Amino acid sequence: MAPKLLITRKLPPDVEARAAKSFHIQTNRNDALPDQASTITSAVGHDAILATVTDRLDATTIAQLPDSIKIIASFSVGTDHIDLAAAKARGIVVTNTPDVLTDATADIALLLLLGAARGAASGMSAIRDNTWANWAPTGMLGISLTGKRLGILGMGRIGQAVAKRARAFGMHIHYHNHRAVNGIDNATFHPTLESLLDVSDFFSINCASTSETRGIINAAALAQLPRGAIVINTARGDIINDDALIAALQSGHLAAIGLDVFNNEPRIDPRYRTLPNAFLLPHLGSATLETRNAMGFRALDNLDDFFAGRPPRDRVV
Ligand code: DGY
Repeated sequence: MAPKLLITRKLPPDVEARAAKSFHIQTNRNDALPDQASTITSAVGHDAILATVTDRLDATTIAQLPDSIKIIASFSVGTDHIDLAAAKARGIVVTNTPDVLTDATADIALLLLLGAARGAASGMSAIRDNTWANWAPTGMLGISLTGKRLGILGMGRIGQAVAKRARAFGMHIHYHNHRAVNGIDNATFHPTLESLLDVSDFFSINCASTSETRGIINAAALAQLPRGAIVINTARGDIINDDALIAALQSGHLAAIGLDVFNNEPRIDPRYRTLPNAFLLPHLGSATLETRNAMGFRALDNLDDFFAGRPPRDRVV
């Protein structure tokens, strides 16, 4: 008998079609956002859950999942929405989908760098609101990427892909990571976050959200950046303290920000909407059809391996 798989959100058609070949699936046809209680109820009678970043699988929820659930395959590289210790305690395997969204997310990071540096949000408003008076030699001046120092917090797969793209724009790469990464050319390692902040004309957040990194970009960290710096985030909103970021932008210490991820998505701090020098996107990092297909196939590969008795390649716990 095919294992029973609960798919919590509507996935691309090719992914659901492949899932249906190996599993007895329950899908979410209308893509209604499940809450924790409905996830627990829906999981009854299933062997596995294919979850996404919108499923808050905290310790309380995991404790109430039926005993039949043996694996949670997350359709994401980040696993901060899952209490891994609670899953481990219950003997539930958790997998993620690394690699396949690296390029798409790094592309969005470059869009944020450019969008923030070149005032794209204000420029688009001028077109849409019909307030563009004329081309002016001193009007709507942005900041060039060429020759600037880009500080990358977290030099994993996505950080490295951002560095590769930014080099093509003539940027000088600096980074802070747990340790220096072998085989990265033309990048300066900083053993502390503080030393990275000191030299970052542009600062890109590319680390995972963990107990170590949550809230790490606070008022003190932002004050350490050179005046006129630009901060972008494609990782997780909770790495940044919103009050501190907004204050730094309003005071002029930061020239601009570019955010694809937020605290409390999609109910973001409403002050962001009022800031002209904020270039904002709704968590589009992995949002291409090719990438979402690849994420779905990778999650299914992990489930196939698990139910065939092989170790899933992306096992997190
Ligand atoms: C992930 O996979 O963690 C991303 O945030 C989804 O775009």
